[in-house]
Amino acid sequence: MTHKIALLAAALMLPATLALADEPKGDAAHGKQLFLADGCYECHGYVGQGGPGLRLAPNPKPPVAIAAYIRNPVGEMPPYTSAVLSDQGIRDIYAYLSTIPAAPKLADIPLLKVGE
Ligand code: HEC
Repeated sequence: MTHKIALLAAALMLPATLALADEPKGDAAHGKQLFLADGCYECHGYVGQGGPGLRLAPNPKPPVAIAAYIRNPVGEMPPYTSAVLSDQGIRDIYAYLSTIPAAPKLADIPLLKVGE
C-alpha cells in the first residue's frame, strides 16, 4: 500500500520536474530594462537593494516564488498581470536579479579604514 502511494507520488512529480528542467532561461539585460521600465526600481531600488519595497537581490528568491508574488501580491505592492508583464519577462527579471553581486564587506573598503 505505502509502496503504491510512493510510486503514485513519484509519477505525479515527474512532469513537474521535467517542466522545470525545460524552463527557458531568462535574459538578464532584458530583465534590467523591464525592472526599470515597469517601475520595480521605484520601490525596490535600482539594483534591487530595497527601499519602500523589500530587498530583492543579491541572492533572489527562486523564480516561482518571485512570479507568485508579482502576480498576487498581498501587501502594498501593485499586482502585475500577464497583460503587463509576461512570464518570460519575470524570468528575465529573475535573471537580472541573479547577476547583482553582493555588496563588499565594510572592512574590505579601503576608504573606510581610518588611521591604519
Ligand atoms: C509601489 C511600490 C512597488 C512596486 C512598483 C513594485 N513593488 Fe515589489 N514589493 C513592494 C512592497 C512594499 C513589497 C513588500 C510586500 C508588500 O507590501 O506587498 C514588495 C514585495 C515584492 C516581492 C516579494 C519579496 C519577498 O521577499 O517576498 C517581489 C518578488 C517583488 N516585490 C518584485 C517586484 C517586481 C519584479 C516589480 C516590478 C515588476 C515590483 N516588485 C514592483 C513594492 C513595490
